[in-house]
Amino acid sequence: MISADIAAAAARLRNGELVAFPTETVYGLGADASNAVAVRKIFAAKGRPVDHPLIVHLASSDQLGDWAAEIPDAAARLAKAFWPGPMTLILRRNSHVPDEVTGGLPTIGLRVPSHPVAQELLRAFGGGVAAPSANRFGRISPTRAEHVAAEALEGVDCILEGGDCEVGLESTIIDLSRGRPAILRPGAITAEQVEEALSLRMSELDEPAPRVSGSLESHYAPRAAVEIVASADLIGRHQQLTAEQKTPLVIAAGATPFPRMIAAPDEPAAFARRLYDMLREADHAGADVILVVPPPEIGIGVAVWDRLRKAAAPR
Ligand code: TXA
Ligand code: MG
Repeated sequence: MISADIAAAAARLRNGELVAFPTETVYGLGADASNAVAVRKIFAAKGRPVDHPLIVHLASSDQLGDWAAEIPDAAARLAKAFWPGPMTLILRRNSHVPDEVTGGLPTIGLRVPSHPVAQELLRAFGGGVAAPSANRFGRISPTRAEHVAAEALEGVDCILEGGDCEVGLESTIIDLSRGRPAILRPGAITAEQVEEALSLRMSELDEPAPRVSGSLESHYAPRAAVEIVASADLIGRHQQLTAEQKTPLVIAAGATPFPRMIAAPDEPAAFARRLYDMLREADHAGADVILVVPPPEIGIGVAVWDRLRKAAAPR
């Protein structure tokens, strides 16, 4: 099921079948974006509500015009600065884009990924590939081919191998469809980088809009409860949970030993890269409560905090 045959995967896409493939952010579950029947299989496999729009992946920004009705100057600038890479742009869509892709919205999410396997697949296929993260709806995004296999998604017979995802968190989503740019989902491309590329001040960036599935209360969630803890409170909170007969597991950088602990990388980008894998590992270790000490909420840390808050939200 895990395969290295990119030509065969492209043939599957042409056939209207699903293909899971690596990107630099997380693994995606792809279908031919111009084929409504194929796109519907994504929603069935994930158990995802059909009105949640998908991102269409392209080999090159030269293909933007095939999907977007117009390419504003800001889109051209951001594409030049950050593609191929971990950024999705929301633009007004072309009229021929299937409603299944956009959830009926007048806009479309577009991304040119940099992962070499994603690039090869997209070039071999030629068209746009609609792909959400290759996990069951509401669960943690996969950052390794084995994570996708473990999801055991119905109708997914082909997973392309691409190693560990380099970024490990989903792309930064920037909405350029409503006039002023807005970051809908933080990611490895930070607000500061967007601001610099557009010569805009932060205060000019708009507030998030609705309809991003990642903006639902509980998302990116492991089975165990998740708590974000300050380093100084860790020992106290751990003692408290143990006294309550709970089984806590600690994810933190640093040397303090706990009976159940995953030593997290100190460096923020490395923490982000490992985050989903660590949450999966914590689940497998049988923890009731995962206590996480994240890096500071700046740079890539903004995206780490965003995903952890969603994982910690009431279910
Ligand atoms: O890094 C990523 O973006 C990964 C890889 C596979 O590319 N994909 C990903 O897809 O995270 P997904 O479906 O799990 O999240 C895509 C997000 C959803 O929250 C969706 O609501 C939002 O993008 N989105 C897509 N099209 C949109 C649109 N037209 N307007 C607003 N939000 C949109
Ligand atoms: Mg997702």
